[in-house]
Amino acid sequence: MKIFSIFINILCLKYCVSITNQNNEQMVVDVVKSYEKPTSVVARVCWESTTVKRKLAKMLANLERPISVRYLRKNETIQQSYPNNHLLFLLDINCENVEFFLKQADANKLFSKSYRWLILGNSINDNGSIATEFENLSISVDSEVIITQEKERNYILLHTIYKLRPHNKWNMEYYGTWAPDYGLNKSDDRIHSNVHRRKDFKGEPVFTSIVAEDNRTKTDLFGLRNIFIDSLSKSSFPSVVSLYDFLNASKVIIFAETWGYPINGSWSGMVGDIKHGKVDLCGTVTLMTLERLRIVEYLTMPTNAISVKFVFRQPPLSYQNNLFILPFTSNVWMCLGVFVFILVAILYINTKWDRKKYEIYNDQKMDQTCLPPNWSDITLFVLSAISQQGSSNELKGTLGRFVMFIVFLAFVFLYTSYSANIVVLLQSTSNQIRTLADLLNSKLELGMEDVAYNRYYFSLQDAYTFKDPIKKAIVEREIASKGKPNFMKIEDGVKAMQQRPFAFNMNTGIGYRIVSALFQEHEKCGLQEISFIPSTKPWLCSQKYSPFSEVFKVGYLRIQEHGLSDRENRLIYAKKPVCSVMGGSFGSVNMVDFYPVCLLLLYGMILAFVLLGVEILVQRWQKRGSNQSAIQLNIIV
Ligand SMILES: *[C@@H]1O[C@H](CO)[C@@H](O)[C@H](O)[C@H]1NC(C)=O
Ligand SMILES: *[C@@H]1O[C@H](CO)[C@@H](O)[C@H](O)[C@H]1NC(C)=O
Ligand SMILES: *[C@@H]1O[C@H](CO)[C@@H](O)[C@H](O)[C@H]1NC(C)=O
Ligand SMILES: *[C@@H]1O[C@H](CO)[C@@H](O)[C@H](O)[C@H]1NC(C)=O
Ligand SMILES: *[C@@H]1O[C@H](CO)[C@@H](O)[C@H](O)[C@H]1NC(C)=O
Ligand SMILES: *[C@@H]1O[C@H](CO)[C@@H](O)[C@H](O)[C@H]1NC(C)=O
Ligand SMILES: *[C@@H]1O[C@H](CO)[C@@H](O)[C@H](O)[C@H]1NC(C)=O
Repeated sequence: MKIFSIFINILCLKYCVSITNQNNEQMVVDVVKSYEKPTSVVARVCWESTTVKRKLAKMLANLERPISVRYLRKNETIQQSYPNNHLLFLLDINCENVEFFLKQADANKLFSKSYRWLILGNSINDNGSIATEFENLSISVDSEVIITQEKERNYILLHTIYKLRPHNKWNMEYYGTWAPDYGLNKSDDRIHSNVHRRKDFKGEPVFTSIVAEDNRTKTDLFGLRNIFIDSLSKSSFPSVVSLYDFLNASKVIIFAETWGYPINGSWSGMVGDIKHGKVDLCGTVTLMTLERLRIVEYLTMPTNAISVKFVFRQPPLSYQNNLFILPFTSNVWMCLGVFVFILVAILYINTKWDRKKYEIYNDQKMDQTCLPPNWSDITLFVLSAISQQGSSNELKGTLGRFVMFIVFLAFVFLYTSYSANIVVLLQSTSNQIRTLADLLNSKLELGMEDVAYNRYYFSLQDAYTFKDPIKKAIVEREIASKGKPNFMKIEDGVKAMQQRPFAFNMNTGIGYRIVSALFQEHEKCGLQEISFIPSTKPWLCSQKYSPFSEVFKVGYLRIQEHGLSDRENRLIYAKKPVCSVMGGSFGSVNMVDFYPVCLLLLYGMILAFVLLGVEILVQRWQKRGSNQSAIQLNIIV
């Protein structure tokens, strides 16, 4: 009996290896096939014979969907230069230097999302524990690492393993069984995604950072009493709490003072906490910026209601334009000018003709009321026609009367359309402020809500503000006008917006809530928005490359789909108020509206005085001339 067993052992030494290998190859092929998606295999195995390697390659290439395999050399290490979505790593745990290989793979984050691993050889010890080689690797909830356990009669048990965090205990999931007779029998559970199977954190602490600028927020995150303070934190927090329920994790909250900005190369605030690994999750929505993209992973945008923009009521048209030019287009103005010239010329000819008729043919003196043929009288006559006034002079004769009729009729029509238009323009608002440059050049006063992100973006610390000439000019104008940027509480800003031409950079969700409460119905019309901060929609985020980001994302999306976050956001934020009574607005004409007229009057007065002076001078000069001629006459006499 003993001799027989020794004989079997000797035989086995020669053939058993190849037999088990044979099984392994078939199992590998079956596992790879079961994924039903493009795959290529990177293998680190220590089969000595090249025939076995070649055989596996052949079997994979002969599949319905051919799969390539690349064998790594003994000391070859792997870098992260592989596309992660169709790679399967094949590793034999019994090879030498495996520990080093695994550590290197871990350093390159090859156990993370979308990479797949199949570990050959027995990775589960007899006492049920998992091989120590995997001890310190970050094989977490997003990984897919299949280990094998060979049982009697060549049948192999497959399991996936993961740990929530490196220091936790292993979780093992049944993956399937493989037997030479019937191939791979995959567990039904594998239909569900990793997230669905692994979302139970079983009380594992998950760390969240929340921005609290006010100390009262720290104790009253659910309260809606001081809703204008830290509203972003208060609106995000219920979603975060729901996420903890989704994960069955325990809540650890760390408060930060700001969202976090790069200052002298290091990050402060919430993003700083994330960068230093202190927290897993942003508990407050945050704006997306290029620098932050390298540190955090943005998961979802909980609501459309929030954005950060300049909001202002459209100012009256006269803030941007001279109302008195607007009724006619420039073409009409030019035609009018030409028309007046032609008119003056025609009238001149006409009066000349009139005088000739009287003096030569009728041999009479011209009537005093007749328009004399000189330029100044004719111009005055036309001006009086333009301004709808009468004139003491008139044209006589059929032709003259006809011309007069045409002149007055034409100007009545022009005058009517002009004044009708002015009435409308006096009540209209300007929609000409559309870009930041317009805002900069407008007469609107600017103000900002007093929150950390505004204080950052409206200082020249921010590289983008600094580089953009228009934004820089806005910030500098702001600082120049008041000595410091005009930060104010959101309530005060909205009130200022109601009372005077004022543009306020605010969180529109909260701002519109105040607008709805304070503004008259007609004042809600014509609210305009211009964004200053590059991306204005805030997102929830987690650590970059965090193994949990997928779980968090799915959790948040479910919370959103079920309407939980929507409910919270509706409690806090308001949408832009609709404009329902447009016509109800009535604004008295103010100084700005007829400023051009005053200017005209002033210029006219100045001109009058100048002319007076000129007249006096001329008169004196003439007087002296006549005196001199009188003296000369005297001398001659
Ligand atoms: C593999 O690396 C080890 C140390 O890293 C070295 O001692 C050994 O010679 C290398 N083997 C080959 C085949 O390069
Ligand atoms: C299980 O067995 C392995 C070696 O086979 C040993 O290193 C390990 O400490 C054992 N674990 C337990 C929990 O006994
Ligand atoms: C894992 O890390 C712990 C502590 O850092 C260390 O004591 C242990 O030896 C490591 N295990 C392996 C297999 O490297
Ligand atoms: C595969 O597993 C299921 C349940 O785990 C079992 O019902 C079925 O009989 C198995 N199929 C084979 C071919 O063993
Ligand atoms: C949640 O975690 C606790 C451990 O903290 C565990 O006892 C409980 O079963 C888990 N609940 C669910 C629903 O999985
Ligand atoms: C908030 O509390 C911290 C410590 O509890 C304290 O240092 C800080 O001065 C407080 N801030 C305000 C505005 O009260
Ligand atoms: C950043 O560095 C500059 C010069 O190195 C220093 O003047 C400034 O105070 C620093 N700012 C902060 C917030 O540490």
